[in-house]
Amino acid sequence: MSTTLDQRREERARQFRQLTECGKNTGMGRLLRKFWQPIALAESVAVNAAIPLLIMGEELTLYRGESGALHLVGGRCAHRRTLLHTGWVMGEEIRCIYHGWQYNAMGECVSRPAEENTGMPRTKIPGYPVKEYMGLVFAYLGEGQPPEFDLPRKPVLEREGTLIANGRERWDNNWFQQVENSMDAVHVSFVHQALTVGPFGQAVTGAVPELSYQETSAGIRQTARRSSGNVRVSDWTYPNNNHITVPGLTPEDPWIDVFVWMVPNDDLNTTRFMIYGQPPGASEASKMRFKQYFAKYGKYDPAEHHDELFSSRVWHNAEDIFVGLTAAQDYLSIRGQDRITAREDEFLGRSDLGIVTLRKLFWRELGLQEKGEPTKEWRSLDEIVHLPTQPGQTAAA
Ligand code: FES
Ligand SMILES: [Fe+2]
Repeated sequence: MSTTLDQRREERARQFRQLTECGKNTGMGRLLRKFWQPIALAESVAVNAAIPLLIMGEELTLYRGESGALHLVGGRCAHRRTLLHTGWVMGEEIRCIYHGWQYNAMGECVSRPAEENTGMPRTKIPGYPVKEYMGLVFAYLGEGQPPEFDLPRKPVLEREGTLIANGRERWDNNWFQQVENSMDAVHVSFVHQALTVGPFGQAVTGAVPELSYQETSAGIRQTARRSSGNVRVSDWTYPNNNHITVPGLTPEDPWIDVFVWMVPNDDLNTTRFMIYGQPPGASEASKMRFKQYFAKYGKYDPAEHHDELFSSRVWHNAEDIFVGLTAAQDYLSIRGQDRITAREDEFLGRSDLGIVTLRKLFWRELGLQEKGEPTKEWRSLDEIVHLPTQPGQTAAA
C-alpha cells in the first residue's frame, strides 16, 4: 500500500474517532454533555444508599437521600480520592468512608471532622442535576444551566393508562455503532431472522426495504418500505435515543413502544437504557402478560452471554422470543463489529444511506460547535408519535 493510501486511511480513521470518542475534552464528549442523559434505573438506588457510575468516562456517585430525592456528585472524595459510594448517606448529604468528609448535593464539602479550625480552604467535587422519568434517572453533565427537560420526554408514554417497563443492558462496545444500528433498517431483514425468528422478525419479514430519511426537529425519521402493506417507521432523537415499535406478546396484544438510549460509559462500553410502553386500552389479560413478561425477562442482557452467543449461535430460551431474542440478535451483529469498529476499512453501499445521513449530521453539528457557531436547536416533535404497527398503516400524528 502506498504512503498516500495509508495517509488517507489514517485521515478517515481520525474523522471517525470524532464520532466515537466521549471524553470530556473531546468534541463529541462536549456535544453529548449538552443533553440530559439517562444514567441509571431509578430502582437501582434505594433510600439512604449510593451506587458508583461511569458515564462518558466520568466517575460519579448517585445516592438517594432520606427524603427519597436523588443526588449526583463526583465519584471520589476530594481529600484522598477514595470512592464516595462506599461511605454513608446522611440526610441529603454523603459522607466519605475514609476520614468522614461530607458533601452536599452540589458537591460542596460541608464538613471535615479532622480538619476543624485548621484554616484549610473549602473544597468541592462535581455536583449535577438529576431527574427521574419513567423509571430512569436522567442527569445533565454539561456546563451551565441544564436545557429544558424536553427531548427525553415521550408524550406517547405519558398517556393515562400506559403500562411502563424498563430494561438496561451493558454492552462492551462503543456507543456510536449502536446508534448507527438505529439508522440501519436493512439489518432487520437479516439479523432478526437469525438464531430463531420471533414475532418481530416475522412482522418485518426478510424482504429488503426501500429506505428514506428525513431530518426532523428532534432527529431523523426513518421509513423502510418493504411493500405497500409493510411500512416500518422509526423516530430517532438526537443524539442517542431511538423510538421503534415491536409486536405485542401475543397477536391479541397491542404493539409496544420501545425507546432506547445508548449512553457511553467510556469509549469501549455502553449502557442501553430502555423504556417499554404498552399503550392504554389493552385488555386485563394483555396487561397481565406485559407485566409478567417484563418481571421475568426484562433484565436479560446479551452481553452477559457473550461466549455462548458467539460460539454456539444458539438461542437458549425458547420462551423469551421477544425482547431478549431481539437484543441477542442485535448484540451478535453490533458487538461482532468489534469494540470500536474499523470504519476506515468498511465498504458502504446504497443501503447504508441511513448510516451516511447520521454521520453527516453529527459532523455538521460537531463542525459548528468547533467553530463556536450556533448548532441546531433540537426540540421534541410537536405531535404524539404513533408509529405504524399493523400492515398498511402509515405514520400518523
Ligand atoms: S479520602 Fe475521603 S475523607 Fe479522606
Ligand atoms: Fe435490531
